Amino acid sequence: MDLLYRKANRDDIATLITVGRNALGIKTYSPIIDESEWEQELNNTLVYIIEVDGQVAGLISYEMKSSNHAYISDLVILPAYRGKGIARESMNHVLNEIGKTEKIKLVVHPENISAIHLYQSFGFTLESSKENYFGDGEPRITMVLKP
Ligand SMILES: CC(C)(COP(=O)(O)OP(=O)(O)OC[C@H]1O[C@@H](n2cnc3c(N)ncnc32)[C@H](O)[C@@H]1OP(=O)(O)O)[C@@H](O)C(=O)NCCC(=O)NCCS
Repeated sequence: MDLLYRKANRDDIATLITVGRNALGIKTYSPIIDESEWEQELNNTLVYIIEVDGQVAGLISYEMKSSNHAYISDLVILPAYRGKGIARESMNHVLNEIGKTEKIKLVVHPENISAIHLYQSFGFTLESSKENYFGDGEPRITMVLKP
């Protein structure tokens, strides 16, 4: 399997929306499917389109909130590519790129068992939880890794 992480730009917004639409309707995940929201996201977040053998397989993104605080903003793998270790590889890629930092945070739905397992396996632990986190009526937990 040939994995490639391609930095997304404004020309990729339609692709990013297509990836998000594949994960629509799951209460444990809220994809960005709005063009202007993606435009804003691309201003301060490094978004990678994950390609497998030249095909779009998902996306992963992160933002440096400060020189010692990173935030993994998004991770989604298209259904046909799940269960093959691609999310794990992509997390490795991003964590290596972030390198040495004080803390890395992310937000996940408390019932998103597969994502929570994945993050725990990298050493992320529960930091806090909040109801209606994104205004979608659903709770989220914040997980943190202090490498
Ligand atoms: C969560 C998600 C990114 C996992 O992607 P994936 O490529 O299938 O994951 P991987 O194959 O790399 O598996 C990595 C780890 O995730 C966990 N995992 C994956 N699928 C799982 C499942 N069905 N049940 C439990 N754990 C699971 C395991 O810990 C697994 O590690 P292991 O294979 O060593 O046991 C994918 O299911 C997805 O895109 N879901 C919808 C969007 C989403 O919820 N994103 C998370 C946002 S916070």
